[in-house]
Amino acid sequence: MAQRFPTDASDSYSILGDHLHFQSGKTTQNRFLKAAMTELLSSFEPSNLKTHGLPTQRLINVYDKWGNGKFGLIITGNVQVCPNHLEGPGNAIIFKEGESTARRESYQKLSKAMKQDGALGLLQLSHGGRQTPISINKTPFSASDVKLDQQGRYGQPVALTTEQIKTEVIDRFVYAAKYAYETGFSGVQIHGAHGYLLAQFTSPTTNKRTDKYGGSVANRQRIILEIYEAIRKEIPASTGFVVGLKTNSVEFQAEGTTLEDAIEMCKVYEEYGFDFVELSGGTYEKPLFLQVRDSTKKREAFFLEFAEKIRPVFKNTIVYLTGGFRTVNAMVDAVTSGGTQGIGLARPVTAEPDLPKKILKGEVPSAINDILDKNNYLITLMASNTQIEQMGRNSLKEANNDVSYGISDFSDEATVTRFLKAIEEFMQLTTTRAKQGIVTPAVLTFEGVKA
Ligand SMILES: Cc1cc2nc3c(=O)[nH]c(=O)nc-3n(C[C@H](O)[C@H](O)[C@H](O)COP(=O)(O)O)c2cc1C
Repeated sequence: MAQRFPTDASDSYSILGDHLHFQSGKTTQNRFLKAAMTELLSSFEPSNLKTHGLPTQRLINVYDKWGNGKFGLIITGNVQVCPNHLEGPGNAIIFKEGESTARRESYQKLSKAMKQDGALGLLQLSHGGRQTPISINKTPFSASDVKLDQQGRYGQPVALTTEQIKTEVIDRFVYAAKYAYETGFSGVQIHGAHGYLLAQFTSPTTNKRTDKYGGSVANRQRIILEIYEAIRKEIPASTGFVVGLKTNSVEFQAEGTTLEDAIEMCKVYEEYGFDFVELSGGTYEKPLFLQVRDSTKKREAFFLEFAEKIRPVFKNTIVYLTGGFRTVNAMVDAVTSGGTQGIGLARPVTAEPDLPKKILKGEVPSAINDILDKNNYLITLMASNTQIEQMGRNSLKEANNDVSYGISDFSDEATVTRFLKAIEEFMQLTTTRAKQGIVTPAVLTFEGVKA
């Protein structure tokens, strides 16, 4: 029996079942968001663009589980808009050079799986920029030529020209958004957080431009607004297609995006009519999904104190907050305190893909309490990726309609001991492979059931 986070039972959980109304027309069945998590389960074949970045049946199986978990909104892991700017090998990709019937069919299956129990299904669209691994691109595009210095894992970025901002970024986001619309998704989320290309533009640490895309807050967020407007030109709000954004509320880096910057930018997202903004924080240099600060320990959500300051700028744009939620009481508190309208969940729902369903039935007061080192982001990330891989080994039907079938229980000490040992071996293997120039998705296949 999995152990849960200790907490008092909540008698106000029903507030989490409230609908949220997007200004372009769609309504969610509740406040829960399955936040984006990279799955690394698509094909990686850069030498053959037609078969590069294709969603696999395993990826569709994963959403067969989340699509029965009673989320209001389900967002995929980052889907890349450019075939040689990825977050990692195994990312799903949508790009004009890779157009094929097989690709369209796989995305159609994916959107159908996500929406099975009434959730809205969104693709998260992203461009890796300078955070593209060097094994994939030695000279990735970025806002400026500021290199990400992490043990040689990232190449020397090249600043996009104004012309390339249109052809290599904006046009690619629009192509992917149109594709999402045509293949049955309810909308898209533009990934403007965590240090990927769009955050490289909004953050002064990586944006040293002196043209209209650099300098003032307005200039740094210009690229996001241009993407939004170009998407809306092709798919107007009157279609009901949802367009949202994930953005950092704060970066805590010298020169990084500040709370004041975020407030100023969010005012403009509200004016432009974004359906929703999901607040997060951090970059590769400064990952922030950790329980380090005292204020966070008390209220769980990592960015709640920032969300409470940003929230008043939003009137028609719905706010989601993601990061740290583990107990129903903290989720209810974040909604009633006015910090957020929607609750984003990531790691808790790889352990338990139908956590919202159980919460809304009043069956559980909190998420499964894994005993991994909560201050070691990499380990918790790998554990979630392993659980996603386990979800993908069979469809819901093959799993006897049990969404948690075959998922490792990391609240169990013996399982965690075996997992940590498996990580060590996996790290050695990937290091050896990298030296041999072999690029493979960084997902550790661990125990569970046979595919
Ligand atoms: C395995 C894993 C993959 C992730 N991939 C993405 C991603 O593709 N896009 C994104 O915006 N955030 C990504 N995140 C961040 C999560 O969406 C979320 O913001 C973060 O995990 C904090 O939420 P949590 O405390 O509920 O896990 C990822 C997180 C994990 C654990």
